[in-house]
Amino acid sequence: MDEELYKENILDHYRNPHNKDALDVYDVRGGGVNQTCGDELEFFVKFDEEGKVAQATFLGSGCAISQAGASMLTDKVKGMTLSELKLLAPGDIYSMLGIHISPGRANCALLSYRALSDGLKHHE
Ligand code: FES
Repeated sequence: MDEELYKENILDHYRNPHNKDALDVYDVRGGGVNQTCGDELEFFVKFDEEGKVAQATFLGSGCAISQAGASMLTDKVKGMTLSELKLLAPGDIYSMLGIHISPGRANCALLSYRALSDGLKHHE
């Protein structure tokens, strides 16, 4: 995909976010705040009986990059195990978004990743 298609994909996720909801029953719940703008995001994960992500959702507000990133991340983590979730790194989020992220927007791009990481820390 070229950068234009990635941009369209980001706008599509922003306008029609996937899995934007809270989970009443969850195994992992974490939160993150973008210190630059104050936007907050919560990330929820529920595992199935095989220990794979059955549901992943998020709630929160923010710019297109943060909201699209969260929406994409809920899709990306489906079927992952706890160990696989722990191996996710910021680079995975940047590849998922697929556009150049300036240093000033890094906190936006990584907001959902940080919320998930916060939940994983408390899951232990
Ligand atoms: Fe607030 Fe991007 S401007 S998350």
